Amino acid sequence: SGAAVRGDRFSGGPAREFLSSLAADERIFAADIAVDRAHSVMLAEQGIVPTDEIGQILAALDVIEVEGHESLPDGEDVHEAIESAVIDAVGPTGGKMHTARSRNDEVAACIRYRLRDDLIDSIDAAIGLREALAGVASEHQETVMPGFTHLQPAQPTTVAHWVLSYEQALQRDTDRLYSAYSRTNRSPLGAAAFAGTPFSIDRERTAELLGFDGIVENSMDAASARDFLFDSAAALAGLATTLSGLAEDLILFSNKGYVELSDEYSSTSSIMPQKKNPDTLELVRATAGSASAGLNGLLTTLKGLPRAYNRDLQRATTHVWSTVDAVTEGTAVASGAITTTAWNTVALADAAGSGFSTATGIADKLAMCGIPFRTAHEILAKAAQEGADAAAIESAAEEILDEPLGAYISNEEIQATLDPIQSVASRDSRGGPAPSAIDAQLDSVTKSLESD
Ligand code: ARG
Repeated sequence: SGAAVRGDRFSGGPAREFLSSLAADERIFAADIAVDRAHSVMLAEQGIVPTDEIGQILAALDVIEVEGHESLPDGEDVHEAIESAVIDAVGPTGGKMHTARSRNDEVAACIRYRLRDDLIDSIDAAIGLREALAGVASEHQETVMPGFTHLQPAQPTTVAHWVLSYEQALQRDTDRLYSAYSRTNRSPLGAAAFAGTPFSIDRERTAELLGFDGIVENSMDAASARDFLFDSAAALAGLATTLSGLAEDLILFSNKGYVELSDEYSSTSSIMPQKKNPDTLELVRATAGSASAGLNGLLTTLKGLPRAYNRDLQRATTHVWSTVDAVTEGTAVASGAITTTAWNTVALADAAGSGFSTATGIADKLAMCGIPFRTAHEILAKAAQEGADAAAIESAAEEILDEPLGAYISNEEIQATLDPIQSVASRDSRGGPAPSAIDAQLDSVTKSLESD
């Protein structure tokens, strides 16, 4: 049979293992069966192969599907192995399945078909994490905490405000994944090797049968294009970067005693009995490295490839499988970790007001009372160096202003503004941390979670 001829021709080469993608192709086994079915149905509908022969081919594919990838005969890849199995089952007629196509359009269709599911899984994981974050936000709208810039205490904020900052970033990550999905979801099938075919195929029909949203028009582009892999890996690497920041923040917060990670998301030391380490979150943080490796591996593999198909493309795909697996898993783990983290509200409140973190709020207040903001900034900067309390503010003001501070603002108001809870409540500008501003953000989060 044809399979035997091909089998003989390729059976003995010393580079056979090196060349073969059969093991890695397990991931697209089901996709290849689906692509074979769609192509076969189209061949029958177009009168290219008789319906009864296509019936035999489809029956063989049903059996092959049930027997699974591990039962396939040897082959250079899953496409060749499944075709060999079809020919083994129905005889030379099985060889008609490969009419008007090539492994080049076939493999591209399989990758796109499978990647769609993987992208949906990654989107589900991102949405799950966003829901987890929104849950924390609604529980901790009033929980004050220190906000940092340069990792230095900067201004008091709330846990809700912190957590929603990541939710917003994840909304954009989700958008990027949807956009990668839309470019992945196009059918290259019917491009054949790259140069089209003399058979009267119907590319729209196979696209429709496989649930693709249209075709990749130019047949050379269809067989060669892997930028949908780049779109996907880049979107995933972006998501992983967001995750790494979230994990890093939680690791730092646990170091400072602001949070207690659940035991389920922590590890112990094999030697130091007292240790509780944030290993799980460290691995979430490291996911950015895996994703970035995948993205770089992909781009480096694609760089400089001439038109049309080149076997390098076989190695491009695996970078994306490893990326999507790592990022989807990391996202799901991050959801579990954040959901089970306990917030130490007492430690957070103490830390929120320390380090003269309400200084900006007092400068704002002085500016509201008619002192130019720059002058107010100077007063607070001086007070920060000389005691960082109400008395220091008053004596700094005395040196810098012509009038006593009391002419602008009462001592009680200064005292109140030093309170981190008041400080947060005062910053009710749109998108800010005040509970009233968080209400509005939570409303829009609920809407975007419903539409995503
Ligand atoms: N396993 C191959 C891949 O992943 C299939 C295409 C082989 N085509 C060829 N012309 N050698 O790209």
